[in-house]
Amino acid sequence: MLSPIFVIDFPNMNKRSTNKKIECTMDKITVIGAGNVGATCANVIAQRDMAREVVLVDIKEGVAEGKALDIWQTSSILNFNTRVVGSTNDYLRTKGSGVVVITSGLPRKPGMSRDDLIKTNAGIVKEVTEKVIKYSPDATLIIVSNPLDVMTYCAYLASNKPSTKVFGMAGELDTARYRAFIANALECSPKDILSLSLGGHGDTMVPLPRYTSVNGIPITELLGKDEIAKIVERTKFGGGELVNLMGTSAWYAPGAAAAQMVEAIVDDQKRIFPVCAWLQGEYGLKDIYMGVPVKLGKNGISEIIEIQLNKEEKKLLNDSAVAVKKVMNLLDGMKIF
Ligand code: NAI
Ligand code: 2OP
Repeated sequence: MLSPIFVIDFPNMNKRSTNKKIECTMDKITVIGAGNVGATCANVIAQRDMAREVVLVDIKEGVAEGKALDIWQTSSILNFNTRVVGSTNDYLRTKGSGVVVITSGLPRKPGMSRDDLIKTNAGIVKEVTEKVIKYSPDATLIIVSNPLDVMTYCAYLASNKPSTKVFGMAGELDTARYRAFIANALECSPKDILSLSLGGHGDTMVPLPRYTSVNGIPITELLGKDEIAKIVERTKFGGGELVNLMGTSAWYAPGAAAAQMVEAIVDDQKRIFPVCAWLQGEYGLKDIYMGVPVKLGKNGISEIIEIQLNKEEKKLLNDSAVAVKKVMNLLDGMKIF
C-alpha cells in the first residue's frame, strides 16, 4: 500500500505569497553597486527568492564578494534558496541577467543636493550600463543612482534600449515615505494607504493628496488640510531628513523599493507603480524622464497611465519638469554621448 503524501505548508512570511508555490521564473538578477542600497536590494531579492541567482558587483576589491557571502550565510536561517554571489568588476559573472539594478555612485552628504552628484555619477552610470549591456543585452534596467531622473536618462542613452526597459526607482520610495507618515498621523496600518507621487525625485516631487486614500476613504476625510500639507512637505524632503540624521542617504527603504520593482517584473505582476519613465507627450511633457504611474510586468513598462490633474497639480508637475530638464541639460552639456 502506498503511503499518503503529505504536503506541509510552512508559514513563511518572507516569501512572496504564503499560498503560492515558490518557483523562480528568473535565472539571474544583477545588482551593480554593493554599497548600502545595492546590498540591501540584493538582500531583499534573495530573501524573497526572486531568482536562481543574484550577482552583486562593485568596483571596490572584495566588497561585493564579502557582502554576497554574508547575505548567502543567512539563507539557512531565513529559509531561501536564491544564491548570492559577488564580483569585483567582473561583468562576465553577470552574463544573461534578466533584470539589472544600478545603484553604483556617490550618495549625498549633508548640505548636498541630489543634483550635486551628477558629474561623478554620470560617468559611473554610463560606464556600468555599457558593461551590463555587453553581457545582458536583453536585461531590463532599473536605475537607482542619483540624480535619479537624469541618471535614468544617462542609462537610456548608454544602453540604446527601448525606454520600456530602462526606468528609474523613486516614486516607490517617495510614496512609501508618504504612506509611513500618514500611517503615523492616523495610527493605522501603512498597508491600507494607497497613494501616488509624480514628478522628479527631488524637492519638487508632487505627492497627490487627491489620489491618496485609506482603503478607498479619501485622506481628505480623515486629516485636516494643514496636517496633509505638513505630511506632503515632509515627504518632499524625506531623503534630506535622513541624510541629516545619518550623514549619508537612506538605504533600507530605497533597497526594498527597488526590489519590489524587480519582483513586479520577475512575476509579471502588472503592478501599477509611480516609476521614473521616458515621457513622449504624456502629461504634456516630451523627451524627459520623470515619475508617473506605469504598469510594470515581464516586458518592463507596458503602459504609462495618465490621470486627470487639476490646475494646481499641473503647475507643480510642470515646475518639477523644469527642474529635471535643467539637470538633463547639464548631462547633455557634459558631451559624454
Ligand atoms: P554607497 O556609497 O553605499 O554605495 C555605492 C557603491 O557604488 C559603492 O560601494 C561604490 O564602491 C560603488 N561604485 C562606485 N563606482 C562604481 C563602479 N564604477 N562600478 C561598480 N560599483 C561602483 O551609496 P548608496 O547609499 O548605496 O547609494 C547609491 C546611489 O543611490 C547614490 O547615488 C544615492 O544617491 C542613490 N540613491 C537613490 C535613491 C532613489 O530613490 N533613487 C535612494 C537612495 C540612494
Ligand atoms: C533618498 O531619497 C537620497 O534619493 C535618496 O533617500
